[in-house]
Amino acid sequence: MSAAILNVHGDAALAAHIAHASDGILSELELRNFPDGETYVRIATPLTDADAILVSALDRPNEKMMPLWLTALAAKELGARRVLLVAPYLPYMRQDARFHAGEAVSARAFARLIGAAVDGLVTVDPHLHRIARLDELFPAASRVVHAAPALAHWVQAHVPHPLFIGPDSESEQWTAQVAELAQAPFAIASKRRLGDRRVEVSLPDIGCWRERTPVIVDDMISTAHTMIETVKILLARGFAAPWCVAVHGLFVEGAYEALLAAGAARVVTCNTVAHPAARIDVAAAIAAGVRGWLR
Ligand code: R5P
Repeated sequence: MSAAILNVHGDAALAAHIAHASDGILSELELRNFPDGETYVRIATPLTDADAILVSALDRPNEKMMPLWLTALAAKELGARRVLLVAPYLPYMRQDARFHAGEAVSARAFARLIGAAVDGLVTVDPHLHRIARLDELFPAASRVVHAAPALAHWVQAHVPHPLFIGPDSESEQWTAQVAELAQAPFAIASKRRLGDRRVEVSLPDIGCWRERTPVIVDDMISTAHTMIETVKILLARGFAAPWCVAVHGLFVEGAYEALLAAGAARVVTCNTVAHPAARIDVAAAIAAGVRGWLR
């Protein structure tokens, strides 16, 4: 066996895809809680001289981290040659600076925690802004899978005459790439964050594209307030109901329903986080990233 796939908190279809692409086998992992809430981990498949590939969703990460950490360290102790983490969504990346005195720079702290347990990381479009590259954070070899081709392809197949809108300057890296691949124009709004659940969005003059269908693109939807404010402005300016597409859909606190209620025509994300809106499949791209890492 060259690769053993351990599905910690991952999507079963993604784990199977990775097993197929890496010529590996889905391995037996027992995870449960002791009565006191502590985590029990047992890897039943021998790992000697195999690469252990841990697949884990990491939305709502706090409860998932301890099982992942224990599994990664156990895999190493049990003789795995290398330990690779496949985390389609990488959390904690937005707190990438100390915005107020005394704050933790969570992106760096989280990277240190993961980096101490694994030899490599494959993830999809992490939120990189003030820290420009993932390898600045992860000493472990990392590979970023880009969702832009899948997003562009999906929009081309579903939305006639799109006009892509990035809701803030940080989204330009994704919006511009998707627009180029879909061969459609784009505009970038500006956003002022007033709190965890309050943002102000302002749009440039895009009146010349009023006949097009707006497609708001962002790397993630959390509370959806960023998208909701952008939808409201577009509707107020006389545009058709906007489509909302994002790489990662966290959809906290009823965000999905709130976004539709605000007037979005449809809300779609990649399947990096499990949700009914996660219709854009990036499993093949992730599996290719894993194959590349293993080489
Ligand atoms: C931040 O810059 C991100 O790219 C997203 O715009 C943000 O996290 C979305 O958050 P929310 O859905 O809570 O407005």
